[in-house]
Amino acid sequence: MRLSRYFLPVLKETPAEAQIASHRLMLRAGMVRQQSAGIYSWLPLGLKVLRNVERIVHEEQQRAGHIPLLMPTLQSADLWKESGRYDAYGEELLRLTDRHGRDMLYSPTAEELFTDVFRSYVKSYKDLPLTLYQIQWKFRDEIRPRFGVMRGREFLMKDGYTFDLTKEDALHAYNRHLVTYLRTYERMGLQAIPMRADSGPIGGDDTHEFLVLADTGESEVFYDSEITDLSFGDREIDYDSVEQCQAVLEEFTSRYARTDETHDAALFEQVPEARRRVARGIEVGQIFYFGTKYSEAMGATVQGPDGKPVPVHMGSHGIGVSRLVGALIEANHDDRGIIWPEGVTPFHVGIVNLKQGDAEADAACDSLYASFAALGLDPLYDDTSERAGGKFATMDLIGLPWRVTVGPRGLKNGVVEVTSRRTGESEEMTPEMAVEKIAGIYAGR
Ligand SMILES: Nc1ncnc2c1ncn2[C@@H]1O[C@H](COP(=O)(O)OP(=O)(O)O)[C@@H](O)[C@H]1O
Ligand SMILES: [Mg+2]
Repeated sequence: MRLSRYFLPVLKETPAEAQIASHRLMLRAGMVRQQSAGIYSWLPLGLKVLRNVERIVHEEQQRAGHIPLLMPTLQSADLWKESGRYDAYGEELLRLTDRHGRDMLYSPTAEELFTDVFRSYVKSYKDLPLTLYQIQWKFRDEIRPRFGVMRGREFLMKDGYTFDLTKEDALHAYNRHLVTYLRTYERMGLQAIPMRADSGPIGGDDTHEFLVLADTGESEVFYDSEITDLSFGDREIDYDSVEQCQAVLEEFTSRYARTDETHDAALFEQVPEARRRVARGIEVGQIFYFGTKYSEAMGATVQGPDGKPVPVHMGSHGIGVSRLVGALIEANHDDRGIIWPEGVTPFHVGIVNLKQGDAEADAACDSLYASFAALGLDPLYDDTSERAGGKFATMDLIGLPWRVTVGPRGLKNGVVEVTSRRTGESEEMTPEMAVEKIAGIYAGR
């Protein structure tokens, strides 16, 4: 993409309504525009990041054998009356009436619809286990939408639902999700810590929230500092192996890590004092085993091995896809702007032409652009006639991890400059080496 032809409405002023860095930077970098409280348009740059986050979520879900489908956002209230949640859900549920006077709602989550699809088609235990998921917009009429896309009213969520014959199988599905989530966040360049969460009125111990540590997070968290040394890394895992998934769960959840909702001061005291941490975090996902609550209420049974009907054991597992875009910025920025991790960056590399109109500089930029594109990389070429300082400020603001700066002076010596947004370090090299270096960084992504 050439900047002169792109739609990148960056703002010079810091918007007054934004209280936290990610919200300010998303508005300034022209990623989103607020249309009404908690409801955003995703502008081209923001959409690219959102799609990258989504792609990683899809890839990691499908790697584990989970199957994508898509449910409607507007749903009939009938299923919700069947589950009992139409009355229980409260003011966050946006209720609507269609022209025939039928009660409808905008889905805030989708247990009912998935259970309905399941019960309509799956009849035998032989068709289990099954995990169906979607990445779809949700609406919750939050009383205080704030912090931009972090707590929106309309937001994009991955929600997955597991159907199993026994509790044991359902807990394997739970553990498998924990593994997929660890991998998902790490691929985005984020550390998200599974913490024991509150299961609310449904009860049970089997729920964890994933929290990204950040001072601006909405949750207070208490943890053993050893947990931040853990990383999933590039280990291979067999998602069908109960032992392997269980081992990962134990590794990542055996140390103390809880949100304020489940915090237990007496237990926390048992962590050596030097390792006790109290901080804040952003919830970017949650896994939840809830047994037969919906399958019993809605008659989602399968024929068991002995021919008798059995209500299936279910779990639901969510990732805050649009919130992650904000969380990624909270965790990766400085006072000049965003610093995208390579896994989610909207463009792989920025090309800055210091002297637009200079025949040699223009030709060198065009050639770099073509070389990157030929390697499947997506460059953003600032081919405008803005002065150098302004071009650097825009590149720093929008946070591309790598920048290649091209000017007549360097070209006289046959070199361009490659700069890392994260470290600020620059290196001079030939254009060919610049392409090779940057292609190498993205190889395998
Ligand atoms: N209002 C919101 N705006 C953006 N993301 C949200 C919002 N509410 C929930 N999410 C994201 O969706 C994920 C799954 O939702 P869920 O666990 O049902 O939310 P909650 O715990 O807030 O009720 C959360 O972990 C969070 O990342
Ligand atoms: Mg949650």
